[in-house]
Amino acid sequence: MIRFGLIGCGSIATKHAESIIASGDAELVALADPVPERMAALARKYALARSISESSVAVYTDPSRLVQDSRIDAVVIAAPSFMHARWATESLRAGKHVLLEKPIALSLKDADAIAELASACGLRVQVCHQLRYRPLLRLAKSWIGQGALGKLRMGSVSILLNRSRDYYASSEWRGTWKMDGGMLLNQGVHLIDLLLWLMDERPDSVYGLIGRGASAKETEETAAATIRFAGGAVGSIEATTLCKPNNLEQSLTLVGDRGTIRIGGVNLTEVQRWHSDEFPVPSFPLTAVNEHAEMYGQFIAALQGAAEDRQSAVSAAEARRSLEVAFAVYESSRLGVPVRVPLSSFDTESMSAGPR
Ligand SMILES: NC(=O)c1ccc[n+]([C@@H]2O[C@H](COP(=O)([O-])OP(=O)(O)OC[C@H]3O[C@@H](n4cnc5c(N)ncnc54)[C@H](O)[C@@H]3O)[C@@H](O)[C@H]2O)c1
Repeated sequence: MIRFGLIGCGSIATKHAESIIASGDAELVALADPVPERMAALARKYALARSISESSVAVYTDPSRLVQDSRIDAVVIAAPSFMHARWATESLRAGKHVLLEKPIALSLKDADAIAELASACGLRVQVCHQLRYRPLLRLAKSWIGQGALGKLRMGSVSILLNRSRDYYASSEWRGTWKMDGGMLLNQGVHLIDLLLWLMDERPDSVYGLIGRGASAKETEETAAATIRFAGGAVGSIEATTLCKPNNLEQSLTLVGDRGTIRIGGVNLTEVQRWHSDEFPVPSFPLTAVNEHAEMYGQFIAALQGAAEDRQSAVSAAEARRSLEVAFAVYESSRLGVPVRVPLSSFDTESMSAGPR
């Protein structure tokens, strides 16, 4: 039985509590949030679903006290993005494994510090890029890994969303450079992670543009970028949160010498092209899977020493890769020139002065 403590009881926290319940061999023993009512509401929901007393879930307005709770094996961090590094670091120092919401951090320095500390402490940090647990995407990974597309020449992602004024007004940290980063980091990082995972190549340079000013928020609402991969392939990202009247598309296209895959639709669920010159079309997984619960199941299994799907688990070092590409788009946009990857350093606050 793995005992979790959860820091941050806002919108995504319910999904975490539900996934802990769905995964069976785990329980939620403590919550932390500066707003007591949010903890109380989540504790009530969890206790009701588990038929236990609400008081069996400890509540802490100071997350530093939660990380010291000796009953806890692993800390889930679903606090605003600017707090990820602090709570991940404190949790690791207290000897806890960490399941950390994306983005891993708002600077490369913090992301590196988390990865180094996890490795020094021999503890697990896993970042919530739950789309990697979607069966269709796992199938794509395995098909590409077997060489069905041949050498990959191009990979592109489209993230065409709608996020309303109400969404940004719902929490003061959203849409700020200091506490959130822009839509590329908040929403886009999931598809950037998938792009890098499936291309399985190191990005070499990034040329990016961002656009902002269409809403009251400080960060970008649109971004476009091209990527040059070290092996010669090219990539592209188009991203916006301004689609009217609602979400339009999330898609991923991979083009190789011997085949093409495109998965699209509003939520990256439709196979729009799945061709290989040599491999027969596989049968597609038809039943939807709760990828969040799947991620928990694998995380718990790994802590219990069982075999896991290592391809899908996103470690701190792995999460740094998509973070760096999003940062490279920002840096390129700021400087007005393509930038080489790896970046030596970057933090979202450096964007506060605005792009050139
Ligand atoms: N994996 C995904 O698909 C996914 C989806 C949504 C959100 N997220 C991530 O989860 C995180 C939380 O997002 P959300 O939408 O739930 O935000 P939210 O604003 O709804 O909730 C954040 C919660 O954290 C609490 N909080 C504020 N300051 C805190 C602090 N210093 N320490 C601890 N808690 C604090 C707030 O009171 C609030 O209850 C973000 O990093 C976001 O990027 C990930």
